[in-house]
Amino acid sequence: MAACLQLNAKSLRPYFPLNSVFVSKQSPKPGRIRCATSTPSKRYTITLLPGDGIGPEVISVATNVLKLAGSLEGIEFKFQEMPVGGAALDLTGVPLPEETLSAAKQSDAVLLGAIGGYAWDKNEKHLKPETGLLQLRAGLKVFANLRPATVLPQLVDASTLKKEVAEGVDLMVVRELTGGIYFGKPRGFGKNENGEEIGFNTEVYATHEIDRIARVAFETARKRHGKLCSVDKANVLEASILWRNRVTAIASEYPDVELSHMYVDNAAMQLVRNPKQFDTIVTNNIFGDILSDEASMITGSIGMLPSASLGESGPGLFEPIHGSAPDIAGQDKANPLATVLSAAMLLKYGLGEEDAAKRIEAAVLDTLSRGYRTGDIHSAGNKLVGCKEMGEEVLKSVESQVPAPV
Ligand SMILES: NC(=O)c1ccc[n+]([C@@H]2O[C@H](COP(=O)([O-])OP(=O)(O)OC[C@H]3O[C@@H](n4cnc5c(N)ncnc54)[C@H](O)[C@@H]3O)[C@@H](O)[C@H]2O)c1
Repeated sequence: MAACLQLNAKSLRPYFPLNSVFVSKQSPKPGRIRCATSTPSKRYTITLLPGDGIGPEVISVATNVLKLAGSLEGIEFKFQEMPVGGAALDLTGVPLPEETLSAAKQSDAVLLGAIGGYAWDKNEKHLKPETGLLQLRAGLKVFANLRPATVLPQLVDASTLKKEVAEGVDLMVVRELTGGIYFGKPRGFGKNENGEEIGFNTEVYATHEIDRIARVAFETARKRHGKLCSVDKANVLEASILWRNRVTAIASEYPDVELSHMYVDNAAMQLVRNPKQFDTIVTNNIFGDILSDEASMITGSIGMLPSASLGESGPGLFEPIHGSAPDIAGQDKANPLATVLSAAMLLKYGLGEEDAAKRIEAAVLDTLSRGYRTGDIHSAGNKLVGCKEMGEEVLKSVESQVPAPV
């Protein structure tokens, strides 16, 4: 069964005994304690992994936004903060302590800031912060990576595309994350029949791998505008022929979603020619790697882009696509909106709490409409703010319950 289906079903039952104490490790700021509009009916445990650099700053903002949006929807969160990346290396000597993975696995969803920094750059591979992130993704068995690319009306000028092309773009790339040519065997180096050195890899997909990513993609399209484009290279690759056959077969389970197919070379062109034609795109690991970067650049701002990684069951991993930005860490300059929007994805795709997710998305738009900008998205005529103040403004917008755009 698809991850989204299972996780949604999970949200229907209380997760903990009613007498459990739900407290955050992050103490609320004075004047920021708000009462829920009703007795919480749903409770979730969220593992917070602030990580390194700007990670703790953006996670702090996103946690406060989650708490408030949740309380307005009758949701209560228990936050458990754990070390990962460089922070974990300094504390425990490894980039992903067992306790962190175990806490993450037992929670309902995981929200990550970012990992990495100069201090650990020269470490051996197994002691690099990045290794901790790869271990976390593998440990949570997240095979579906969801990366939205939305051009917000307030930031349309940040796109490198012409305004009329970029305006209104709102697409989602669903990338298969754990199969295909990046993992396929055989792989390696050798010699060909002429004794010449060769390097080789294998693009291979099994039916179950395609079926499960297809179901996540159909579920995702269903939650968006009901259109799914499957991208492959079925005119050349056998693995793509199987991909197309299986996606077509799974489509019969989703009669309400309109399915189309496109070759990857055409998709790369169409993304810059007319990106508005896409709603949800599903594709394999390597095509998804390339197309999701291409799509995200249409929006023009790394500080605004969230992501979600989902498995077949168990918690999803939600994180901004940016890194730890060591050049601005600790200076209150980070844009927290990518992490805030990752929190919205956590609610929508991880917990099935769409109303709370919409509150957050609408609040981000409202904050931008009111002219608040961090340095990375600032332009003349807007109000330059730091990470904390941006967070405070988003909280005001969540509280004023601005309606989500239809
Ligand atoms: N998922 C992750 O945790 C992740 C992803 C990419 C890189 N990294 C790590 O992060 C470290 C820095 O890598 P990098 O410099 O290549 O990429 P980066 O994304 O950290 O930074 C690139 C540029 O974008 C800016 N930037 C990034 N996020 C921002 C935000 N929220 N607000 C404002 N500006 C922002 C930075 O200041 C920098 O100028 C490295 O150690 C790298 O390995 C981690």
